[in-house]
Amino acid sequence: MPTQPSAATSPAPSTRPTTPLPVRRLGATGPGVSALGLGCMGMSALYGEADRAESLATVHAALDAGITLLDTGDFYGMGHNELLIAEALRTAPSAARERALVSVKFGALRAPDGAWLGYDGRPAAVKNFLAHSLQRLGTGHIDIYRLSRVDPQVPIEETVGAIAEAVQAGYVRHIGLSEAGPETIRRAAAVAPVADVQIEYSLISRGIEDEILPVCRELGIAVTAYGVLSRGLISGHWSAGRRLSPDDFRALSPRFGGEHLTRNLALVESLRAVAADLGLTVAQTAIAWVLAQGEDIVPLIGARRRDRLTEALGALGARLGPDGLAAVEQAVPAGAASGERYPAAQMAHLDSERRRPRPGTP
Ligand SMILES: NC(=O)c1ccc[n+]([C@@H]2O[C@H](COP(=O)([O-])OP(=O)(O)OC[C@H]3O[C@@H](n4cnc5c(N)ncnc54)[C@H](OP(=O)(O)O)[C@@H]3O)[C@@H](O)[C@H]2O)c1
Repeated sequence: MPTQPSAATSPAPSTRPTTPLPVRRLGATGPGVSALGLGCMGMSALYGEADRAESLATVHAALDAGITLLDTGDFYGMGHNELLIAEALRTAPSAARERALVSVKFGALRAPDGAWLGYDGRPAAVKNFLAHSLQRLGTGHIDIYRLSRVDPQVPIEETVGAIAEAVQAGYVRHIGLSEAGPETIRRAAAVAPVADVQIEYSLISRGIEDEILPVCRELGIAVTAYGVLSRGLISGHWSAGRRLSPDDFRALSPRFGGEHLTRNLALVESLRAVAADLGLTVAQTAIAWVLAQGEDIVPLIGARRRDRLTEALGALGARLGPDGLAAVEQAVPAGAASGERYPAAQMAHLDSERRRPRPGTP
């Protein structure tokens, strides 16, 4: 995405991948992107304090390593994250800047104190959010634009229709979705081509496998997977004694507390043993497992330090093979996670988690 022209405590693990990085396509109509994307949210919000200089250095290191997909949301630090990405791109070498694609989520409404007020997917709101994001990013277009959570008050056809108009006008290149359920995906794709659905997917969050992933595959839509390390929980670097600031999402996340945390960290120890046999770190094994689930899945890695990025990139060279995959899934069986992936109030906003009657049941 061309814009206006213009530093860790743990050891840096594992190998760097060969360059250029492998490319995966975002659906039948979307762009080719590096097989790993960089999720920038934690550099501005939700995971406690971030080091600004290290965040910028991490984006630069990602671009340098060949990552071409940067993911953000206009509500990550209320514009902070977009401004950070704009600065990183402005100060990056021009070739890396030209290759970079920025994916932006919009629609979340927040108060000055950070409170979550709901979502707005009305067409007028789409235009308004877009105008502000273009200004903050210092660019004439956004590469992939998506509503962060389906707005139950606004038919998805209207929201996607408004983004499609922005595509026609040249302000947006591709349309994405986020945490959308199967019916919403079908309805959206009937309005305009959808490149990808951004959704949580990991060894301990496998909910998309039953319906959402098959629908995406049927319609030629890719998955950009977030939470691949379950926000650090299954990275191998988490510990029960870790202190969290009150504004850290994980302080309220069911999986990070009490008995749930104890059980989830026990799963990580099982995974650690398998990872050691594979010659990988725990994080690399978790990322490699997601990479192995299909060429149409692009993990978004939430690294905000260069050593974490280097570790994540090491997953690209890993080949788990059938025996490795089986060993990983034996260590962390489907459905083994303890606790929901969001607090109850936020689960209620997930169209992807809406309980649907099973076929054949009354
Ligand atoms: N569409 C949606 O609803 C949605 C929701 C959430 C996130 N996202 C997107 O997805 C991106 C990824 O976020 P996530 O929370 O899902 O990321 P994640 O990769 O599951 O977790 C990131 C956290 O894992 C820790 N970590 C440990 N080892 C790591 C390693 N080798 N590489 C990377 N991280 C490591 C980091 O903690 P330390 O910082 O302590 O090192 C970091 O805070 C976000 O930045 C955002 O763009 C989208």
